[in-house]
Amino acid sequence: MKTLTFNLMSSLIMGIEQGSKRDVPVKLFQQLMEGLISVPINLPFTRFNRSLQASEKIREIVMDLIREKRVALDHQNASPQQDLITSLLSLRNDHNSVALSDEEIVDNAIIIMIGGHDTSSILLTFLIRLLAKDPSVYAGVVQGRQLNEYKKDQMIVN
Ligand code: HEM
Repeated sequence: MKTLTFNLMSSLIMGIEQGSKRDVPVKLFQQLMEGLISVPINLPFTRFNRSLQASEKIREIVMDLIREKRVALDHQNASPQQDLITSLLSLRNDHNSVALSDEEIVDNAIIIMIGGHDTSSILLTFLIRLLAKDPSVYAGVVQGRQLNEYKKDQMIVN
């Protein structure tokens, strides 16, 4: 579920699709997350230190993506809605100048990745566990789906 969540977020936030470009950030992001709740001692062998280093590398990756996406936007090879970074890059203020600095875009992209990762992956894990362990929950979901399909059919008929 962590991998699934990370992959979805990579596409939606950073616009990184499957492949080697996504494998590097996966590992770095795991290192970053591991250090979020750790003893804040910054020595070369500590989890905290590894997390800071990973964070620095992720910032560089996101910065590179920002540069790529800006060029793509300038050449009209990208749509402002394709991912969060492109969307933030396209934001303009009242004077029609750029609304967010590159640093602010990096901060926003990373905070959303951190905020959405463990929360969504843990929720999905418990959801699947509950569906697998409790037949009444599974039956309820199936029934709800059938009811929705029935309602949709009714709307089409009417
Ligand atoms: C089951 C899923 C989630 C749960 C249980 C959850 C829970 C929370 C909680 C309790 C807070 C703190 C609110 C506060 O103290 O004011 C929070 C804040 C936040 N969450 Fe989530 N969250 C979930 C999913 C997500 C996702 C998917 C994202 C992003 C894509 C996200 C991004 C954020 C951000 C950016 C904040 C900080 C907001 C702020 O301080 O202005 N969260 N979340």
